[in-house]
Amino acid sequence: MSKDWWKQSASNIPKIAVEPPGPKSVAMHDSTIRYFRGLSSQVKLFPVCFSEGHGITLTDVDGNRYLDFSSGIYVTSLGHSHPKISEAVAHWAKRLMNCHDFTTPVKEALLSKMAEILPKGLNQVQFYSDGTSAVEAGIRAARAICGKHEFLSCFRDFHGKTLAAVSCAQMWRGDVLSYGPTRAPGFYMVPRPDPYRPLFTKPNGSIDSDAYISFYDQFIREATVGNVAAFVLEPAQGWGGSIFPPEDFFPKLRQYCDRNGILLFADEVLTGMGRTGEWLCMKHWDVQPDIVTFGKSFGNGFPVTAMVVQEEYAEALDKISASSSYGGNPMACAAALASLQVIEEENILENVRSVGQTIMGRMEKMKLDHAIVGDVKGKGFLLGIELVKDKTSKEPFAEAGKLVYQKAFRKGLAWIPAGHILRMSPPLIMDEKYATLGLDIIEESIAEVERDFSHDGS
Ligand SMILES: Cc1ncc(COP(=O)(O)O)c(C=O)c1O
Repeated sequence: MSKDWWKQSASNIPKIAVEPPGPKSVAMHDSTIRYFRGLSSQVKLFPVCFSEGHGITLTDVDGNRYLDFSSGIYVTSLGHSHPKISEAVAHWAKRLMNCHDFTTPVKEALLSKMAEILPKGLNQVQFYSDGTSAVEAGIRAARAICGKHEFLSCFRDFHGKTLAAVSCAQMWRGDVLSYGPTRAPGFYMVPRPDPYRPLFTKPNGSIDSDAYISFYDQFIREATVGNVAAFVLEPAQGWGGSIFPPEDFFPKLRQYCDRNGILLFADEVLTGMGRTGEWLCMKHWDVQPDIVTFGKSFGNGFPVTAMVVQEEYAEALDKISASSSYGGNPMACAAALASLQVIEEENILENVRSVGQTIMGRMEKMKLDHAIVGDVKGKGFLLGIELVKDKTSKEPFAEAGKLVYQKAFRKGLAWIPAGHILRMSPPLIMDEKYATLGLDIIEESIAEVERDFSHDGS
């Protein structure tokens, strides 16, 4: 099969037949929310109803066709309905949907493939059907590995919404009301380095990773009971706005963890499997975690996730009753195996690196050309544009973010920014032509919003 399988359906996008959200979308949405609650802010702000997805194209019930700049939510990374992946799922859907955690030929093949692509030794696996469950299992595994029970995680990281996962994650006010007055005992949060908004800097003004690590050290001595099992982090913050740490941060954190008997748990649910141009985002810094989680694009939309630990910790997985009802079912394994094969066969990592560089170049120019673009950030296809009211004060400009989101969607860009950071996660198959088209729509929308707010220097 040609790696251009998606191109025909992408010709002539975006195509707006009726201003979105159109009447059919709105009617479907209104009917849905009579019985369905808890929508994300993106859906509330733009209630469109999708009926089909093919490659980098999404179609709504009013006949509008959009360029996809979100991959669902970092999920359908190899394109909607990739033929190889859909066929692999269908094959097992017709043969064997579930057989508890007995092995199957496709599970065996997936595990062998994972052992081939993951760093040496990172090969003890259990499967789940959502990222949160994989993170929860990773937390249980960390406790079993070292017999300790405290965890450190970082401000504005996200790891899921069950009790332990959310206790490692940013909690917004609404969440605090839902989950109770505090996070679970033994879970602590500390700041992580954000190069655009540094907390600790060197005398020359550059961000100071050593100071962050020293702070963690002091925090552990003063605020914990000295029983820290693991540091749980996203390699780069996805939900938090595509924020990457400085180059020396993870190597230094790895050394700190090693010196202090603390495990390094990299939650790669969002960053893993090619999104940043590597199988693991941690590879950018040549740092190997002790525990890692995968999700989202792992099955290109089929719910399959994984928690993996280093070989030397294999016994921990036997101690935590790791299996689940759906984890590792044949359809899930088929989706994940086909996705990994597609990444190799279609040379996806290379595409992400080269198109990602072009995108970054264009975003750097947008930063120079636009008064409200405070910062641009990213690696590969994990990208963000930070909107500010003023480049000196860096005050976040959330109202502008909301308007840019809606304007671009109306022009035919399906995407998922949140607040003042325009987050972008195009399908990894996207070429330069369509990446440029998406950025054109975003830049045009930013310029319109600048005019609306008289921020264009006029
Ligand atoms: C880094 C990270 N970890 C865990 C999760 C939770 O995954 P799921 O929504 O599949 O439970 C997410 C979801 O956005 C995530 O971004």
